[in-house]
Amino acid sequence: MPAQLHFNLLTLFPEMFPGSLGYSLSGRALEDGIWSYDAVNIRNFATDRHKTVDDTPFGGGAGMVMRADVLEKALLALPIERGRTIYLSPRGKPLNQRIVEDLSQAKNLTLLCGRYEGVDQRFLDAYDIEEISIGDYVLSGGEPAALILMDACIRLLPGVMGNETTPDEESFCGDGLLEYPHYTRPAEWTTADGRTCTVPDILRSGDHGKVRAWRHAQSLALTRERRPDLLPPDPEND
Ligand code: ADE
Repeated sequence: MPAQLHFNLLTLFPEMFPGSLGYSLSGRALEDGIWSYDAVNIRNFATDRHKTVDDTPFGGGAGMVMRADVLEKALLALPIERGRTIYLSPRGKPLNQRIVEDLSQAKNLTLLCGRYEGVDQRFLDAYDIEEISIGDYVLSGGEPAALILMDACIRLLPGVMGNETTPDEESFCGDGLLEYPHYTRPAEWTTADGRTCTVPDILRSGDHGKVRAWRHAQSLALTRERRPDLLPPDPEND
Protein backbone atom coordinates (compact mmCIF):
# COMPACT_ATOMS: atom_id res chain seq x y z
CA MET A 1 0.00 0.00 0.00
CA PRO A 2 1.45 3.45 -0.83
CA ALA A 3 2.18 5.77 2.10
CA GLN A 4 -0.45 8.34 3.00
CA LEU A 5 2.10 11.10 2.48
CA HIS A 6 5.29 10.95 0.43
CA PHE A 7 8.01 13.60 0.54
CA ASN A 8 10.45 14.17 -2.31
CA LEU A 9 13.43 16.04 -0.87
CA LEU A 10 15.81 17.95 -3.13
CA THR A 11 18.96 18.59 -1.14
CA LEU A 12 22.75 18.66 -1.26
CA PHE A 13 22.78 16.66 1.99
CA PRO A 14 20.46 13.65 1.61
CA GLU A 15 22.06 12.01 4.66
CA MET A 16 20.37 14.66 6.85
CA PHE A 17 17.12 12.70 6.34
CA PRO A 18 15.21 11.17 8.07
CA GLY A 19 17.31 12.69 10.91
CA SER A 20 15.09 13.38 13.92
CA LEU A 21 12.10 11.95 12.04
CA GLY A 22 13.62 8.47 12.36
CA TYR A 23 12.83 8.53 16.10
CA SER A 24 9.75 8.29 18.29
CA LEU A 25 6.29 8.49 16.75
CA SER A 26 7.43 9.68 13.31
CA GLY A 27 10.11 6.94 13.25
CA ARG A 28 7.54 4.25 13.99
CA ALA A 29 5.20 5.73 11.36
CA LEU A 30 8.03 5.63 8.82
CA GLU A 31 8.65 1.94 9.61
CA ASP A 32 4.92 1.29 9.37
CA GLY A 33 4.79 2.90 5.91
CA ILE A 34 2.41 5.70 6.94
CA TRP A 35 4.77 8.21 5.36
CA SER A 36 7.76 7.80 3.06
CA TYR A 37 10.48 9.92 1.48
CA ASP A 38 13.11 10.00 -1.26
CA ALA A 39 16.07 12.27 -0.55
CA VAL A 40 17.57 13.20 -3.91
CA ASN A 41 21.07 14.64 -4.11
CA ILE A 42 20.91 17.71 -6.37
CA ARG A 43 24.63 17.32 -7.08
CA ASN A 44 23.95 14.10 -8.99
CA PHE A 45 22.34 16.28 -11.68
CA ALA A 46 25.28 18.62 -12.24
CA THR A 47 26.64 18.15 -15.74
CA ASP A 48 30.22 19.39 -15.52
CA ARG A 49 33.25 17.52 -14.32
CA HIS A 50 33.36 19.47 -11.03
CA LYS A 51 29.70 18.70 -10.24
CA THR A 52 28.91 22.40 -9.94
CA VAL A 53 25.45 23.23 -8.55
CA ASP A 54 25.83 26.98 -7.98
CA ASP A 55 27.32 30.09 -9.54
CA THR A 56 27.91 33.77 -8.77
CA PRO A 57 24.88 36.11 -8.92
CA PHE A 58 24.25 38.26 -11.98
CA GLY A 59 24.47 41.89 -10.84
CA GLY A 60 27.18 41.05 -8.33
CA GLY A 61 26.96 40.66 -4.58
CA ALA A 62 27.90 38.14 -1.96
CA GLY A 63 27.24 34.42 -2.01
CA MET A 64 26.38 31.87 -4.60
CA VAL A 65 23.08 31.03 -6.31
CA MET A 66 21.81 27.51 -7.05
CA ARG A 67 21.55 26.95 -10.79
CA ALA A 68 18.14 26.63 -12.46
CA ASP A 69 19.29 24.06 -15.04
CA VAL A 70 20.67 21.67 -12.42
CA LEU A 71 17.61 22.03 -10.19
CA GLU A 72 15.31 21.41 -13.14
CA LYS A 73 17.07 18.15 -13.99
CA ALA A 74 16.72 16.98 -10.38
CA LEU A 75 13.04 17.95 -10.25
CA LEU A 76 12.14 16.27 -13.53
CA ALA A 77 13.93 13.04 -12.56
CA LEU A 78 11.90 12.54 -9.37
CA PRO A 79 10.64 8.96 -9.28
CA ILE A 80 7.33 9.94 -7.66
CA GLU A 81 4.96 12.72 -8.78
CA ARG A 82 6.06 16.02 -7.26
CA GLY A 83 2.73 17.37 -6.02
CA ARG A 84 2.90 20.80 -4.35
CA THR A 85 6.49 21.95 -4.49
CA ILE A 86 7.88 24.09 -1.70
CA TYR A 87 11.15 25.96 -1.38
CA LEU A 88 12.10 26.46 2.28
CA SER A 89 13.31 30.01 2.54
CA PRO A 90 13.30 32.85 5.11
CA ARG A 91 11.46 35.03 2.59
CA GLY A 92 8.56 32.56 2.28
CA LYS A 93 5.07 32.67 3.71
CA PRO A 94 5.34 32.03 7.50
CA LEU A 95 4.40 28.44 8.38
CA ASN A 96 1.50 28.02 10.77
CA GLN A 97 -0.79 25.21 11.94
CA ARG A 98 -3.43 26.05 9.32
CA ILE A 99 -0.89 25.63 6.51
CA VAL A 100 0.41 22.43 8.15
CA GLU A 101 -3.13 20.98 8.27
CA ASP A 102 -3.57 21.79 4.60
CA LEU A 103 -0.21 20.31 3.57
CA SER A 104 -0.80 17.13 5.59
CA GLN A 105 -3.78 16.34 3.33
CA ALA A 106 -1.50 16.05 0.29
CA LYS A 107 -0.43 12.71 -1.21
CA ASN A 108 2.98 13.98 -2.35
CA LEU A 109 5.01 17.03 -1.39
CA THR A 110 8.34 18.08 -2.84
CA LEU A 111 10.62 20.15 -0.61
CA LEU A 112 13.56 22.05 -2.03
CA CYS A 113 16.29 22.70 0.53
CA GLY A 114 18.59 25.55 -0.43
CA ARG A 115 22.13 26.27 0.65
CA TYR A 116 24.14 29.36 -0.32
CA GLU A 117 22.41 32.68 -0.96
CA GLY A 118 19.42 31.29 -2.77
CA VAL A 119 17.97 29.75 -5.88
CA ASP A 120 17.78 31.20 -9.39
CA GLN A 121 14.36 32.90 -9.47
CA ARG A 122 13.62 31.54 -12.95
CA PHE A 123 13.44 28.02 -11.57
CA LEU A 124 10.95 29.03 -8.85
CA ASP A 125 8.79 30.88 -11.41
CA ALA A 126 8.95 28.24 -14.14
CA TYR A 127 7.78 25.40 -11.87
CA ASP A 128 5.25 27.23 -9.66
CA ILE A 129 7.25 26.69 -6.52
CA GLU A 130 5.76 27.99 -3.28
CA GLU A 131 8.04 29.50 -0.63
CA ILE A 132 7.57 28.79 3.06
CA SER A 133 9.56 30.14 6.04
CA ILE A 134 9.64 28.50 9.47
CA GLY A 135 10.30 31.82 11.23
CA ASP A 136 11.96 35.21 11.12
CA TYR A 137 15.56 34.06 11.44
CA VAL A 138 18.07 32.72 8.95
CA LEU A 139 19.30 29.12 8.94
CA SER A 140 22.41 28.00 7.07
CA GLY A 141 20.29 25.72 4.92
CA GLY A 142 16.74 24.56 4.28
CA GLU A 143 17.15 20.97 5.58
CA PRO A 144 16.31 21.67 9.26
CA ALA A 145 13.34 23.75 8.08
CA ALA A 146 12.16 20.83 5.90
CA LEU A 147 12.45 18.46 8.88
CA ILE A 148 10.31 20.82 10.95
CA LEU A 149 7.65 21.15 8.28
CA MET A 150 7.63 17.37 7.78
CA ASP A 151 7.37 16.68 11.53
CA ALA A 152 4.39 19.00 11.87
CA CYS A 153 2.62 17.29 8.93
CA ILE A 154 3.47 13.70 9.88
CA ARG A 155 2.06 13.92 13.39
CA LEU A 156 -1.33 14.82 11.92
CA LEU A 157 -1.53 11.71 9.73
CA PRO A 158 -4.09 9.16 10.91
CA GLY A 159 -2.40 6.39 12.90
CA VAL A 160 0.69 8.39 13.91
CA MET A 161 -0.19 9.83 17.30
CA GLY A 162 -2.22 7.10 18.99
CA ASN A 163 -3.30 8.35 22.42
CA GLU A 164 -0.23 10.46 23.02
CA THR A 165 -2.06 13.74 22.65
CA THR A 166 -5.32 15.09 21.37
CA PRO A 167 -4.47 17.62 18.65
CA ASP A 168 -7.56 19.71 19.36
CA GLU A 169 -6.39 20.68 22.83
CA GLU A 170 -2.95 21.78 21.75
CA SER A 171 -1.65 25.24 21.10
CA PHE A 172 -2.95 26.62 17.79
CA CYS A 173 -5.72 24.04 17.44
CA GLY A 174 -9.37 24.24 18.34
CA ASP A 175 -9.78 27.70 19.88
CA GLY A 176 -6.43 28.98 18.55
CA LEU A 177 -5.10 29.84 22.04
CA LEU A 178 -1.81 28.76 23.64
CA GLU A 179 -1.95 25.62 25.72
CA TYR A 180 -2.67 25.78 29.48
CA PRO A 181 0.02 24.59 31.96
CA HIS A 182 0.34 20.88 32.86
CA TYR A 183 1.19 19.19 36.16
CA THR A 184 1.79 15.60 37.24
CA ARG A 185 2.81 13.64 40.35
CA PRO A 186 4.23 14.22 42.88
CA ALA A 187 1.55 16.71 44.03
CA GLU A 188 4.13 18.36 46.24
CA TRP A 189 7.66 18.72 44.94
CA THR A 190 10.58 20.30 46.79
CA THR A 191 13.41 21.70 44.67
CA ALA A 192 17.03 20.83 45.43
CA ASP A 193 17.40 24.18 47.26
CA GLY A 194 14.32 23.64 49.45
CA ARG A 195 11.47 25.45 47.67
CA THR A 196 8.19 23.55 47.95
CA CYS A 197 6.02 23.69 44.84
CA THR A 198 2.41 22.52 44.82
CA VAL A 199 -0.23 21.90 42.14
CA PRO A 200 -3.26 24.22 41.72
CA ASP A 201 -6.02 22.80 44.00
CA ILE A 202 -8.65 22.86 41.25
CA LEU A 203 -6.77 20.24 39.25
CA ARG A 204 -7.06 17.82 42.18
CA SER A 205 -10.68 18.66 42.99
CA GLY A 206 -12.21 16.10 40.61
CA ASP A 207 -14.64 18.79 39.35
CA HIS A 208 -14.25 18.47 35.56
CA GLY A 209 -16.29 21.59 34.81
CA LYS A 210 -14.08 23.72 37.06
CA VAL A 211 -10.93 22.16 35.62
CA ARG A 212 -12.10 22.99 32.08
CA ALA A 213 -12.91 26.60 33.07
CA TRP A 214 -9.57 27.02 34.87
CA ARG A 215 -7.63 25.69 31.89
CA HIS A 216 -9.47 27.98 29.49
CA ALA A 217 -8.76 30.99 31.73
CA GLN A 218 -5.08 30.02 31.90
CA SER A 219 -4.92 29.65 28.10
CA LEU A 220 -6.48 33.07 27.64
CA ALA A 221 -4.15 34.76 30.15
CA LEU A 222 -1.05 33.15 28.62
CA THR A 223 -2.10 34.09 25.11
CA ARG A 224 -2.84 37.68 26.18
CA GLU A 225 0.61 37.93 27.78
CA ARG A 226 2.75 36.14 25.19
CA ARG A 227 0.89 36.17 21.88
CA PRO A 228 -1.81 38.85 21.83
CA ASP A 229 -1.68 38.63 18.02
CA LEU A 230 -3.46 35.24 18.28
CA LEU A 231 -6.50 36.66 20.09
CA PRO A 232 -9.64 37.46 18.13
CA PRO A 233 -10.20 41.23 17.80
CA ASP A 234 -11.88 42.67 20.95
CA PRO A 235 -15.05 44.58 19.90
CA GLU A 236 -14.68 46.77 23.05
CA ASN A 237 -11.47 48.23 21.61
CA ASP A 238 -13.00 49.16 18.24
N1 ADE B 1 16.28 28.52 5.14
C1 ADE B 1 17.05 29.39 5.83
N2 ADE B 1 16.35 30.03 6.75
C2 ADE B 1 15.07 29.56 6.68
C3 ADE B 1 13.87 29.83 7.38
N3 ADE B 1 13.81 30.74 8.36
N4 ADE B 1 12.77 29.15 7.03
C4 ADE B 1 12.82 28.24 6.03
N5 ADE B 1 13.91 27.95 5.35
C5 ADE B 1 15.04 28.59 5.66
